[in-house]
Amino acid sequence: MEKIIGYLPGDGIGPEVAKQAKKALEAVAEKFGHSFTFNEALVGAAAIDATGDPYPAKTHEVCQSADAILFGAIGDPKYDNDPSAAVRPEEGLLRMRKNLGLFCNIRPVKAYKLLEEASPLKADRISGADLVVFRELTSGLYFGNPRGRHEDGKSAFETCLYTEEEIVRISKLAFEAARNRRNKVTLVDKANVLVTSRLWREVVTKLHAEQYSDVELDFLFVDNAAMQMILNPKQFDVILTENLFGDIISDESSVIAGSLGLLPSASIGSEVGLYEPIHGSYPQAAGKNIANPAAAILSAAMLLETSFGLTEEAKSIQEAVDRCLNEGFVTVDINAENPVGTEEFGDKVVEYIKG
Ligand code: IPM
Ligand code: MG
Repeated sequence: MEKIIGYLPGDGIGPEVAKQAKKALEAVAEKFGHSFTFNEALVGAAAIDATGDPYPAKTHEVCQSADAILFGAIGDPKYDNDPSAAVRPEEGLLRMRKNLGLFCNIRPVKAYKLLEEASPLKADRISGADLVVFRELTSGLYFGNPRGRHEDGKSAFETCLYTEEEIVRISKLAFEAARNRRNKVTLVDKANVLVTSRLWREVVTKLHAEQYSDVELDFLFVDNAAMQMILNPKQFDVILTENLFGDIISDESSVIAGSLGLLPSASIGSEVGLYEPIHGSYPQAAGKNIANPAAAILSAAMLLETSFGLTEEAKSIQEAVDRCLNEGFVTVDINAENPVGTEEFGDKVVEYIKG
């Protein structure tokens, strides 16, 4: 198979972890006889520094002409601490998602048997937990207009807007995913307060009755869901939720896996899918060869499976990562006493894929 992969390393630890994911993809190509061409492009603070724009037109072209996109991370403290910055790196990611029509963000989470000790949660609570968050990615508070500051500068506002169509298209994907898992969808919302949440409930309930009544559906308010995630994560199979709630719940769920550095994600919706670790740019760790590349490498596995349909190839990456984790061949976020470096982890994964 010949494929073009848009390669967007981004900021902070992004380049280091994306590089390991690229190495894993190259190893897969070699082993299984495929040819992957990587087209590199700038995004985020790196793109602002070079062009003034966090998502330059050239990057959009690279993304549009690719068969899939591998993305590292975005964000830089020099913008985080400057509320008056005219452009922000995150804008690049948001525009990329919107312009590429990536409305569905899929974030799988599972408890790794041998990493249960790495989680601050009690092993009996998380053991066997296996869930996936379906987060709406191109609407809600992140994108609704109007937004801004009032003229006096003393008040600010955003708009949370959802249409029926936006709710239906991601809900369908969530129900279909549930059918291939444990057949349960939990809609997380705030329908006791928010009008948009009530629309979500109405639309999801109707869709369920009409097309997916074989799937179990339940509802949780987001505050309760946040508590249940820690109290009893095993109750969840597919979590379906809007943009901001999904952002928060998915970071929270990473505690189950033991490290944010283990969670991959896929963003889909149009022809081209984008694959990225859920962690951010972690600037304090950049350039130190200490970041955990597992999430980025597992994102590459999701890319192979979801965008290219290469199931066996994806499995070879997952198994290589699992093997490292099971052998305690892990980075400092998981084992502070005897850690391996980012590059070494990537090399070991390559070795296991080839072996
Ligand atoms: C994520 C990140 C982004 C988001 C930021 C970097 C804009 O937190 O992908 O979860 O809020 O969506
Ligand atoms: Mg987030």
